[in-house]
Amino acid sequence: MRFLRGLSKSIQHIFNDVEFNWNKQLQQRQQQKINDDLIPLDLSVWSRYFLTDIILSTSTKSSSNNLPGFKGLSETFKRNNNWLFYNLLEIIKQRRNEIALLKEKEPIDSSDLLDILLTINTPRDPNGFDEGLDQNDNNNKPMSDNEILAIILDIDIGGRDPTASTFCFTVYNICKHPKVLQKFREEIVDVLGTDFLRPILFEDLSKFKYLEAVIKETQRIIPLNPLIPLQSHNKISLNGHMIEKDTPIWLHQEKLHKDENSWHKSENFIPERFLNKELGNNIFIPWCEGIIRNCPGKNMAMIILKCLLILLFRKYNIELVDKLSPAKVMYFGINHSFNLKVNIKKREKFY
Ligand code: HEM
Repeated sequence: MRFLRGLSKSIQHIFNDVEFNWNKQLQQRQQQKINDDLIPLDLSVWSRYFLTDIILSTSTKSSSNNLPGFKGLSETFKRNNNWLFYNLLEIIKQRRNEIALLKEKEPIDSSDLLDILLTINTPRDPNGFDEGLDQNDNNNKPMSDNEILAIILDIDIGGRDPTASTFCFTVYNICKHPKVLQKFREEIVDVLGTDFLRPILFEDLSKFKYLEAVIKETQRIIPLNPLIPLQSHNKISLNGHMIEKDTPIWLHQEKLHKDENSWHKSENFIPERFLNKELGNNIFIPWCEGIIRNCPGKNMAMIILKCLLILLFRKYNIELVDKLSPAKVMYFGINHSFNLKVNIKKREKFY
């Protein structure tokens, strides 16, 4: 919870930096006598950089400003991919040393993931520490530097592309459906009021029920993991087919999400179907809940998606450059968004 609370603040902080850069870009365009007030972007590229920034700045104590090449849309990003692996361990060690120098046994009540991981099962854990517990039990031990590194890399690798692509598909769907956009903006006013500079509080996010339905409908109609690899543990009979033990099985998430028996007008984008309605069992599984390997990043992803979509649509109009084509999807392990070209323009009247 501490981490998720801090996450929503970091997203807004990084978005402020982005807006600063957009303003500079607009000034440059004006100097070149381009006075259209548009910021052209490929959202599928932009969102990956943004997600990298969010994940690195929230999971390492180091601000993303201090991570070379990860700030803004820079070519340096590619050159510095290796930098991440070699230097994260250094950042972890450095922060461990800093913490060791702090006042004796003082708890650290920080929302920074690195601090949380470094202090779990130590006297500095604000959730308490019991010295009497068996230290040979892995659950009671403090985490090693390598264990912490593995968790941070898991978040970066497992979290960046799925969240960035889901964000892009959601933006695409909102842009394609003006009534959905209108309802979403009404919800923004209902929850946050008409002051577009009002910070978004962590508590606000759970009130965005319509936005949640828009994200879910996006996940239904463009499933991120259209095929989920499974394996039978035992010999089983499935729909009259005998399946031997250890047989690889592909769960067809996309078929499930578009099954006409479960979803009325399944090809149509209708977020309302997720409002105040009980869903049938196992007909909607974007996070593989209840199957196996639940996504551990579900809450983190939903906070990022909600915050970012609110920040973007509250203040800006987004126009698809290619208004006619379906969403551009490339399957490579998961469904990736690519080539989502948009023009962004500050709204003249916000409400
Ligand atoms: C909209 C965004 C996301 C979606 C739709 C999503 C979906 C999924 C799904 C369906 C799986 C299970 C895959 C399988 O069993 O083959 C999974 C696993 C996983 N996800 Fe996510 N995910 C998202 C965001 C994130 C984020 C932000 C994180 C990081 C905090 C994350 C970390 C992971 C990890 C580490 C696994 C592997 C779990 C394991 O093997 O036990 N995901 N995700």
